Amino acid sequence: MAIKIKTEEEIRLMRESCRRLADVFQNLEQSVHPGMSTKEIDILGDQMIRRHECIPNFLHYNGYPASICVSVNDEVVHGIPRKNRILQEGDIVSLDAGLIYKGYHSDMARTFGVGAISPEAQRLIDATRQSFFEGVKMAKAGNHLHDISNAIDAYIKPFGYGIVRDLVGHGIGTSLHEEPQIPNFAQFKRGPRLRAGMTLAVEPMINMGRADVEWLDDDWTVVTEDGSWSAHYENTILITEGEPEILTLY
Ligand code: MF3
Ligand code: CO
Repeated sequence: MAIKIKTEEEIRLMRESCRRLADVFQNLEQSVHPGMSTKEIDILGDQMIRRHECIPNFLHYNGYPASICVSVNDEVVHGIPRKNRILQEGDIVSLDAGLIYKGYHSDMARTFGVGAISPEAQRLIDATRQSFFEGVKMAKAGNHLHDISNAIDAYIKPFGYGIVRDLVGHGIGTSLHEEPQIPNFAQFKRGPRLRAGMTLAVEPMINMGRADVEWLDDDWTVVTEDGSWSAHYENTILITEGEPEILTLY
């Protein structure tokens, strides 16, 4: 299976899918506050996606039971929203969501502080975000896929943070997960050549402590093994001959 090159019409649909998702995120970010349950975030996000006349692509994906992944503090990704999981001032919360517009998928994630957070937590969030942009600087036609991975790794290394290795970014289009897989840590091989018209979800997941993660008994929630906090930053991007287009920015 090769990496798909999207046509002009497909790219138009991807842009619109991503624009709608970014709009949902902007509204969701504003609604996050201490005292809120993670389930409330899911309900709000699900409603916003449907109001945009789109379908949440995470709901029922491999049995995932919600529309938004809500992961708090040491939860890395795929946290299941719960009525009794209440956000507290000082927490950090990672929201990950996607939607389908006219058959085309979008996917993005952000980590937010709940009220005032510690400088250490803010530093983790900022470094995770910046690592995405360092990776994406390399994301242009003619470069190789792993130039992205290597740039993310090189940026994070001086912080001493753990880069999650068990989960990776991915191609995206008519499916949520298409080829290729996009690791966030340094690779020996260069990987496939990037070409204009590829759409990719680049998504570094960075732990304040060690890189190791484990799965909770709910079969979904990924947590850090050492209990350290974790941040996530993801956008869907389009490869062009020049600068990449970041389709889910807001
Ligand atoms: N955003 C996740 C990913 O990148 C997908 C979540 S899977 C779900 O690839 F089942 F939780 F929805
Ligand atoms: Co993704």
